[in-house]
Amino acid sequence: MTDLDESAVLAILESYRNDPQQIIAALLDVQEASGRSYVERAWAAAAAGALKVPVSRVYEILTFYSNFSLEPRGRHVAEVCLDGPCLLNGGSELMERLSGAMGVEEGGTSGDGSLTLEGAGCCGRCAGAPVVRVGDVVYTVRSADEAQTLVRSFREDDPVAREALKCVLWGFSRRAPTRPSPWTREAISREAATPG
Ligand code: FES
Repeated sequence: MTDLDESAVLAILESYRNDPQQIIAALLDVQEASGRSYVERAWAAAAAGALKVPVSRVYEILTFYSNFSLEPRGRHVAEVCLDGPCLLNGGSELMERLSGAMGVEEGGTSGDGSLTLEGAGCCGRCAGAPVVRVGDVVYTVRSADEAQTLVRSFREDDPVAREALKCVLWGFSRRAPTRPSPWTREAISREAATPG
């Protein structure tokens, strides 16, 4: 359970003027506000009512995009890129290192509830491979020590500790400028705004 109630959910939707074209961005905000990185079924129903879209449309979005969850997760979600360039540059090892640092397998949540570990597709930062995305920030992690630092920084809510791990190489990626990841908020909002 979280502190987020229906009135807070409705306030988030209203901040998007209850515009059905903004449904994905609004649901992302609801998920973030949950504090547990998920969208409760009651909130999905509330969103459908406020935006005047079928509940099935809301569930279609929540189940299609991998960054949504209907089940509670950690306060943050660490998405390890397991796409080609990252796999070739140690993506599997990165998953193992984070798994070791968190004490959970892929799909699990650390005991303190700070992080959930998941695999994901390319986020357009191939030049910094291997990378892990947490929220809107991408990190390059190449050693067990760096994995420990990243996990500890989320456990202790210390953004400064992970600053040096931020991936700043996306500008050199051949893929990012030409083909934005489908998983960025900007890209999926654009898709939602495109008449089907
Ligand atoms: S393959 Fe990992 S960011 Fe592109």
